[in-house]
Amino acid sequence: MCGIVGYLGEKNTKEILLDGLKELEYRGYDSAGIAVLEDGNFSNYKAIGKLVNLEEKTKNYSTKGLAAGIGHTRWATHGKPTEINAHPHLGESSYVVHNGIIENYTELKKELINSGVKFLSQTDTEVIVHQFEKNLKSSKSAFEAFSKTIDELSGAYAILLVTKSEPNTIFYAKHGSPMLVGKNSENEKYFASSDTPLIGHCTDVNYFEDGDYGYVTCDEIAIFDQQGTKKEPQFSKLSQNKLSAQKDGFRFFMEKEIYEQTSVVSDTLMGRLSDEEIIFDEIDKNLFDGINEIKLCACGTSYHAAMTASYLFERYAKIKTSLEIASEFRYREPIMTKDTLFVVISQSGETADTLETLKMAKKAGLKTLVICNVDNSSMVRLADSTILTRAGIEKGVASTKAFATQVTVFWMLTLYIAKFKNSLSTQEISRQIKLLREVPSHLKVTDEMHERIKRLSKRYLHGHGFFFIGRDVFFPLALEGALKLKEISYLHAEGYPSGEMKHGPIALADPELFTIALLPEHLHYEKSKSNVEELSARDSTICAISSKEFDKADDFIKISTCKDYMLEFFEMMIVVQILSLEISIRLGNDVDMPRNLAKSVTVE
Ligand code: F6R
Repeated sequence: MCGIVGYLGEKNTKEILLDGLKELEYRGYDSAGIAVLEDGNFSNYKAIGKLVNLEEKTKNYSTKGLAAGIGHTRWATHGKPTEINAHPHLGESSYVVHNGIIENYTELKKELINSGVKFLSQTDTEVIVHQFEKNLKSSKSAFEAFSKTIDELSGAYAILLVTKSEPNTIFYAKHGSPMLVGKNSENEKYFASSDTPLIGHCTDVNYFEDGDYGYVTCDEIAIFDQQGTKKEPQFSKLSQNKLSAQKDGFRFFMEKEIYEQTSVVSDTLMGRLSDEEIIFDEIDKNLFDGINEIKLCACGTSYHAAMTASYLFERYAKIKTSLEIASEFRYREPIMTKDTLFVVISQSGETADTLETLKMAKKAGLKTLVICNVDNSSMVRLADSTILTRAGIEKGVASTKAFATQVTVFWMLTLYIAKFKNSLSTQEISRQIKLLREVPSHLKVTDEMHERIKRLSKRYLHGHGFFFIGRDVFFPLALEGALKLKEISYLHAEGYPSGEMKHGPIALADPELFTIALLPEHLHYEKSKSNVEELSARDSTICAISSKEFDKADDFIKISTCKDYMLEFFEMMIVVQILSLEISIRLGNDVDMPRNLAKSVTVE
């Protein structure tokens, strides 16, 4: 996803910006650019594709003295990945870079066009710089114009702006997208959207809070809160260890990735939701022409996301859906008919078994779609169509944010299909789109919740096994919870449909059998509750996860009261992930690199 850097100082600004952007490369991007203001003149360079292209374009350029520079790597959302759409965006005499989404950009753009402003790009970002310049005409200072502009924006953003009307200054604002500023003893100032570009340059950093905005000069870092009150920067020492900085202060990558889910799912949704429909610019509607069935094929966690999709597709999109484990599908001589859309799901896009099934489907002449996190991976190159999940690089071997983003994409795809199949009313689609917008806030991990799970995890370090149980989409979530626990704790765990326990596994019930019960308030609550009561009556140790108090449980983890079972799904997902994490930590295991596992399984 997009990355931001900024620099104010006397060193070679171009190199500092390009080096900073390199540190953010792992987030994925399709174009990049820089703008530098030196001696009252701007130099601006943009290139599509990788940073080497921008390096090539800037090879004869360097700064000589004090300069203010901003840089950006862009992941296309509004408008195609072209040079014109790449940041920084120019007004008359100012440049801006931006991460996030300006939700009211259409209205602002309309007003600006009516007042004679000419837009060059298709981006939402360009309105920021034009709005700023419009305000500049009626303001006493550039800062006043910038403050007015920020007030007029709604949405999520991290913004840097440089203007000729106030040289040697960088204006910034943060709301919903991460950004920090760093300083050193040489009076230089550095901005970035994550720590790593600042390592080696800064000793102290201030992480902006939502609503913060202001400016930096060589002598000052001025911060104002949402109410316009000036506040002191809160500096903390920047670790000089890249690996630990990449963990953003978390103990493990997996923990960081669990916490990150709220922001990466916002990225997954970005630019894809309108009030009444889902927008997937990357797929052609005729992909579904002549299609009567969807076949979903994947391994591991991706398979669990696919299983979740199988419930949603049939329930809401009313399309027949079948599910395949890739390693099984390869050798069972399956019947493949051309009215089937073959969908593979993979975080890496390289898993050998899944890749082979994609080749089989292509050979059989089926239309293919891949839901993937890694652009340009083997599956993305091979499939007819791709929807990228935009989770950013996932380092923990145990997959977390990849799963959250896959399920989010599948929920969106359900509504996308439901729209053209008329299987849901416009009101129902709008209702679910509103729910989708709420997913990021349900993915926020609270200290209280984490502390509670950490405390009760000590009861679950032994025993002869775990059963994660749930019904409907909570069954794949139960499978996923059990897989997470197995992978990093090395304890035996199974996911089971709640209603199936009485057909055999209940024989195992005793106090040393731990049942993790998923009890959503909005989906088959009474039925699931009875299943848990059956286990409780046989003395199984129960940990219930629900928004409704449940007195038959030995432990109870309360999620918030949600409007819909899909929101409960995401809240419970966080709980099972953290439970596995804390059990693994207590057992002293290597959370990020569990024994015997690899991140990308490129062998059969
Ligand atoms: C579990 C996990 C694995 C992967 C599986 C498929 O935490 O990471 O089960 O989900 O190996 O990998 P991808 O999604 O890359 O095809």
